[in-house]
Amino acid sequence: MMVGVPLVGFVFKPLFKALPPVWRSVGKVDSFKVGETVAVTFLQASPLPWAGVTAKTAAWLRRESDNSFTAFSISCTHLGCPVRWRPDAELFMCPCHGGVYYKDGSVAAGPPPKPLSRYQARVNEGQVEILSTL
Ligand code: FES
Repeated sequence: MMVGVPLVGFVFKPLFKALPPVWRSVGKVDSFKVGETVAVTFLQASPLPWAGVTAKTAAWLRRESDNSFTAFSISCTHLGCPVRWRPDAELFMCPCHGGVYYKDGSVAAGPPPKPLSRYQARVNEGQVEILSTL
């Protein structure tokens, strides 16, 4: 009987529906120093009620100038481990397999196949916002 397949699609389709990106505030502009790269957390675009703390995600945010920010994904492009920013070396380091990224997110060494992903970032009404796409 072919009833099972459409029923499965009906039950799971809402879980896999593409959701529109949402701007999330990560703090006041004045709370970030020009030239510094810091970790910020924010809610995913559409947290599911049962997701709890996993509905939060993180990024590395750098204030480039008065009104310019760059936001990098914390996920290594090799297998997804969270990368760490090393301000002394100005590098992103992945603890899992030795991946290294330059300050601009491009690959410096190790197995990562491509640069760190970036989020769009903007200043809006005194707040720094990141476009959450998950
Ligand atoms: S997950 Fe980062 S180098 Fe493998």
